[in-house]
Amino acid sequence: MSEVFKARRITDNVYWVGAVDWSIRDFHGYLTSRGTTYNAFLVMGEKTTLIDAVKKPFGEELLARIASVVEPERIDYVVSNHAEPDHTGALPYVLERVKPEKVFASKMGAKALAEHYGLDGVTAVENGGKLDIGGLTLSFMETRMLHWPDSMFTILEEERLLFSQDAFGMHLAGLELFADEIERSVLECEGAKYYANILTPYSKLVAALLAKVKAAGLAFDVVAPDHGPIYRTPEDIEWVLGAYERWAAQRPAPRAAVVYDSMWGSTDRMARAIAEGLTASGVEAKVMALGACHRSDVATEVLESGALVVGSPTLNNNLFPTVADVMSYLKGLKFSNLVGAAFGSYGWSGESVKQVAALLDEMGVEQAAPPLAVKYVPAEADLKACRELGSKVAKALLERTG
Ligand code: FEO
Repeated sequence: MSEVFKARRITDNVYWVGAVDWSIRDFHGYLTSRGTTYNAFLVMGEKTTLIDAVKKPFGEELLARIASVVEPERIDYVVSNHAEPDHTGALPYVLERVKPEKVFASKMGAKALAEHYGLDGVTAVENGGKLDIGGLTLSFMETRMLHWPDSMFTILEEERLLFSQDAFGMHLAGLELFADEIERSVLECEGAKYYANILTPYSKLVAALLAKVKAAGLAFDVVAPDHGPIYRTPEDIEWVLGAYERWAAQRPAPRAAVVYDSMWGSTDRMARAIAEGLTASGVEAKVMALGACHRSDVATEVLESGALVVGSPTLNNNLFPTVADVMSYLKGLKFSNLVGAAFGSYGWSGESVKQVAALLDEMGVEQAAPPLAVKYVPAEADLKACRELGSKVAKALLERTG
């Protein structure tokens, strides 16, 4: 038995047995500046039950933590709430070692585990189904497409404890297990970043799920996601549910993200002038040069904004590569309720600004001003036009925010 990696008790019947990934910085394209955790939980009914697993390199750590409570071979059931490899990568190895009586997942989860790992014989649970684990009851709620087809919640009824897989999670490494042990500003920052980069495309489903939970009169004393801290105080649970309601609604805020890259400083000067116009007209502007800002930080800023203004120089008749990258990423996240505009400098052909404008159209961003292209270096009159563009975007945004 490991004297180092131990389980941590989180309630009367539940232990945290997950792993801390201190050094991960790239989570499928998302900059995880503070690392992450892969949370897994051991529920001590008469049938010992493991909820979720960890990423492949952390299988031994998971087993060591389990062994500090119970011999891993004594696990009877495993429940997999979400098939993505950060929660199942170690599962085949763990199952080989543990040989549980049964593995449970949603219908789509059973299919996904077979397709990922060739795991046959996973028992599919029904939405609303219950599992008696001897003195304790687990119930299951499908949360399809939040954020994979297989995703589901498991509720430990006797403790009103929600195992919420990715939902309400955040990428934040640490040995502080609970949200009340962490600065609220850190939770706000990492929670918003997680929502922006993982859940934004499914915002309508998030809103519908929160309404369904409310209508069913479900209330929780503990919310335990698969990443980041566990919520155990009424204040923290209220905070995270409220934040999800707000982010899912995507109500426009009087803030603007000015996102761009620059070859020789001209598009940069335009961005700065646009920000002056936005600010002078009452909208907080954040200037985000893509040489300095990661795409996932841009997404977080857009979640908290009502305007997206994008600039690109023309390179070889095309968008600058970093701008193409961020536009592709933001388009996939399907933000809504944004106003914006396109801008940029060019040398002779100048296609990029029209390309940015077309992409903003495809993203459903209402353009408050025609695309603004400047040849070579912006003169004072050009910078004035940039400032006016900022003012027009601000005016259109403030009409929406009231
Ligand atoms: Fe944390 Fe969707 O996996």
